[in-house]
Amino acid sequence: MAFDRARLRDADVGGRTVLVRADLNVPLDDGTVGDDTRIRAALPTIQDLISRDARVVVCSHLGRPGGTPAAEFSLRPVADHLSRLLGTEVGLAPEVVGERASEMAASLDPGQVMLLENTRFEPGETENDPELSRGLAEIADLFVNDAFGTAHRAHASTAGVAALLPAYAGLLLECEVTNLSAVAESPDRPLVVVLGGAKVSDKIGVIDRFIELADQILIGGAMCFPFFRARGLPTGDSLVEEDGIPLAAGAMEKASGSGCELCLPVDLALGREFDPATEKRELGGVEVPEGWMGLDVGPRTAADYAARVGAAGTVLWNGPMGAFELEQFADGTRTVAEAVAAAPGFTVVGGGDSVAALARFGLTGRVDWVSTGGGASLELLEGRPLPGVEALEAA
Ligand code: 3PG
Repeated sequence: MAFDRARLRDADVGGRTVLVRADLNVPLDDGTVGDDTRIRAALPTIQDLISRDARVVVCSHLGRPGGTPAAEFSLRPVADHLSRLLGTEVGLAPEVVGERASEMAASLDPGQVMLLENTRFEPGETENDPELSRGLAEIADLFVNDAFGTAHRAHASTAGVAALLPAYAGLLLECEVTNLSAVAESPDRPLVVVLGGAKVSDKIGVIDRFIELADQILIGGAMCFPFFRARGLPTGDSLVEEDGIPLAAGAMEKASGSGCELCLPVDLALGREFDPATEKRELGGVEVPEGWMGLDVGPRTAADYAARVGAAGTVLWNGPMGAFELEQFADGTRTVAEAVAAAPGFTVVGGGDSVAALARFGLTGRVDWVSTGGGASLELLEGRPLPGVEALEAA
């Protein structure tokens, strides 16, 4: 996927009002921003527009308030945080559309920034209601979609409004699409895909597509257990997604005879329960006895996966290798994260947990691209069209 038109740098924005859809859907912690990664990722586009004297109206959703205003979903903490990061006041409109929002937008000076309230306070947002899109379009002269994390939603502020104004891709959205698409469309070989996390059903679309594209898929995390069960192996008390068992069986069948090697762990680290103080045991194989649960890949698996990552031309990593939030079971994820950080190939990391793991091990700046999109990055990698991106291309 690539953009052949509608680039932000081509837009004449000086003195004009630009509506920027960002994904500022960040975790809040006691009324303040818990993790500001997504806010920081939105800064280049906003700063570019400020530097070119645009009047900048930012909008975003936060959480899932279900179409009604609710104080706990207000973007107030985000507006305050954005003000601090930009070093300039960012006013918050008390509504998404309406007289007060329009008045605030009309009184912006060139180079000033404001934020509209949570777009999901309007029921029309998730319904992609044309009336809400029109209300948003009336505030601005141009539209910039930089909300990659929400690009898989056809909502009024992502897709709808793009048809009503000259519409451009923001800098973040453009980088996300370019880097993630490069993994699937023009990878340096070998292409190694490392997938982990709890559920095989979350990643089956990616597994299916990459069996056709990748040289190796390395499976870790609790999602390995449906694969073991599909092979008739005991999994003890491990977390097993039962619905994932037929999906895992199908993936193994598809992989056999393909050009893609589908690798599963060869050893595991076990605990009695999901608890930081649980007794730990290394299992030389993968047949988990009753009374134990697999909480990490073992050292042989981690070393093998790390070597494959180190020899890759392109690496895509999504999902931790184990319960890395429990220090005793962080080794597999740490080894893979360090290998990705040290890999000479092109490295892309997506998915909230792997991004958090990189941060925890101090490796965030050491990979080529860290995606801000969870669901959106998976859908792009699965080869599914993203409505937010399609709307820009159609505009
Ligand atoms: C995300 O956090 O994945 C995006 O902001 C989209 O949020 P949603 O799943 O509530 O649409």
